[in-house]
Amino acid sequence: MTAQADLAETQLSVRDMTVLFPVGSKLAARAKHEQRFLRAVDGVDLELRKGEALALVGESGSGKSTFALALAGLRAANSGQVTFRGKVLPKHRSKIDQRRIQMVFQDPYSSLNPRLTVGSMLRELIRVHNVVPANQADAYCRELLRLVGLGEDAMKAYPRQFSGGQRQRVAIARALVLKPEVLVADEPVSALDVSVQATILNLLAELRTELGLSLLLISHNLAVVRHLCDRVAVMYLGRIVEVAPAEQLFSDPRHPYTRGLLAAIPRLSADSAREADGGPAVTGDPPSALRIPAGCRFRTRCPIAQARCELDDPALAAGPGSAGHLAACHFAFTEKGD
Ligand SMILES: Nc1ncnc2c1ncn2[C@@H]1O[C@H](COP(=O)(O)OP(=O)(O)OP(=O)(O)O)[C@@H](O)[C@H]1O
Ligand SMILES: [Mg+2]
Repeated sequence: MTAQADLAETQLSVRDMTVLFPVGSKLAARAKHEQRFLRAVDGVDLELRKGEALALVGESGSGKSTFALALAGLRAANSGQVTFRGKVLPKHRSKIDQRRIQMVFQDPYSSLNPRLTVGSMLRELIRVHNVVPANQADAYCRELLRLVGLGEDAMKAYPRQFSGGQRQRVAIARALVLKPEVLVADEPVSALDVSVQATILNLLAELRTELGLSLLLISHNLAVVRHLCDRVAVMYLGRIVEVAPAEQLFSDPRHPYTRGLLAAIPRLSADSAREADGGPAVTGDPPSALRIPAGCRFRTRCPIAQARCELDDPALAAGPGSAGHLAACHFAFTEKGD
């Protein structure tokens, strides 16, 4: 199979995923005969192809982390379907299914057990999941540490003995120990010094190529994902509002929210004429996920909103002749959207 064909193969697909958080006390809800819910993830459709790096971007609170946790099976979704290589994953995942999708979190310190050395942490995972025979565990750990750029001394060290960047390398080794096929990295560099951010991003890019991983990279920073990702998905108030090949998303964004996000990055805006005249940056705060506007959820901040946007909720759809570029805006592929 060629690399090209490999890239087009669907590894993981998500259909209509919803994650709700109950709000307020149960007693109050009972008294009023209603329960209020915050719609953190509100009908997400997304596909991750084999071997690709897909970025998921959006403002704080748009639901990126909640979506990632539900995707990895670490938080229950209220509805929706996750299909892995053609097989629908059950609500309660088997150990094998859990291994396939692993996560790296924003803060490597709080995501690692401070009382375990790196060696004991990795060996325990190998034992529980029966990854390799016991007599090969140490050699496997050393190989893994080499892969993430750490020496074998790391085996005997505790998380506190590492710098932030090294700790994130340990967290990546922990995610890889189970030989996942999909790695979900949720803001993997935003807690790190600027000086080490690029080295961790480069490491993720190298690992993806070397191990043939599919990578879902979550970031609120579009500049971070630009050079690392093949495609970009933009999330707003719990829904994907645009998805496109990275170059296309940056050079020809079709959703007004994406244009607003791009305009908020001055350095990127100067890169091309299209980006420079892409419209105003998004300002103000998004509405609460407790009160998602009817119709188009972006209309309350949208510079091109029309009466129709209050009534019709636009579906994520491709424009004519743009199969890989989808946007959820009534005017995404019309003159008005330009
Ligand atoms: N455990 C929880 N209980 C109640 N509400 C939650 C919980 N976790 C997240 N939320 C809410 O769900 C929505 C989505 O949050 P989430 O953390 O997924 O966003 P995010 O896009 O990852 O934001 P950030 O960029 O700040 O990490 C927000 O309105 C948030 O307040
Ligand atoms: Mg988050």
